[in-house]
Amino acid sequence: MTETVQVGGFNDVELTGQQKQMLGFLDWCENLPQMPPLRDRSHQLLDLPSGATVLDVGCGVGTATAQLAESGLDAIGVDASGFLVQVGRQRHPQLRLIEARAEDLPLEDASVDGYRAERVYQHLTDPTAALAEARRVLRPGGRLVLVELDADLWTVDASDMDTTRKLGRAFADTIAYPWIGRRFHSLLQDAGFEDIEVELFPLVYRDYAQCGVVLQSVAAAGKASGAVTPEAADAWLAEQQERAKTGKLFVMVPMFIASATRP
Ligand SMILES: C[S@@+](CC[C@H](N)C(=O)[O-])C[C@H]1O[C@@H](n2cnc3c(N)ncnc32)[C@H](O)[C@@H]1O
Repeated sequence: MTETVQVGGFNDVELTGQQKQMLGFLDWCENLPQMPPLRDRSHQLLDLPSGATVLDVGCGVGTATAQLAESGLDAIGVDASGFLVQVGRQRHPQLRLIEARAEDLPLEDASVDGYRAERVYQHLTDPTAALAEARRVLRPGGRLVLVELDADLWTVDASDMDTTRKLGRAFADTIAYPWIGRRFHSLLQDAGFEDIEVELFPLVYRDYAQCGVVLQSVAAAGKASGAVTPEAADAWLAEQQERAKTGKLFVMVPMFIASATRP
């Protein structure tokens, strides 16, 4: 994938007017070798018995929802984007995929055994409202697992530290809730969950083909915000491409996996 995508645009896919590019980005992410172990760990932490009902919130086109269903769970997907839900229904006609927002779930109280959301809460302006809904729809003893980044904590090796810092900040500012990773613990505590655990899962990229599209998004954010000059952003990106050719590319994104139980 070479096209630049507005990563922060996932808070309202339709508003970007780039639905097809956003879909292309989601499909591209699925093929990254870094993703399956992260998702497997999130499913492990859900710790649900076969036949249990699990809600995949912000499911996109339902790829993880389908994996949960294949593993023997009664999986339901929910996503705010009508476009992505429609594509998901075409791909997985057997799945129950619902167009709805995490902050207003069309489900009965205490009706699900598990709740997961992956790379979704960073796009919510009010994660508190979504967590209140999660607590409402989970049955007592139900499990919740959230997988997110902290947009101020990604790491890129580069010769120009000042430009790298400015670009990092500009990119983080395009994300609706950039500090979701570090806030998980306190948000879950305030929402009344217990057995809260937050673990880190580092995603390391050494190949431009696996992270170039995100680096382009970072450079574009720097230019659009005026944090750096277009020339500085282009030079920074060119250096990353050069580093990749000589084996010196190093990008690391620490993912936060939070798990908790509804009392
Ligand atoms: C980066 S994608 C991740 C999709 C999927 N979880 C995955 O792992 O492929 C973020 C998803 O969250 C959805 N989303 C954003 N805000 C939402 C909200 N308030 N309620 C439900 N879904 C939302 C977007 O439409 C998009 O499908």
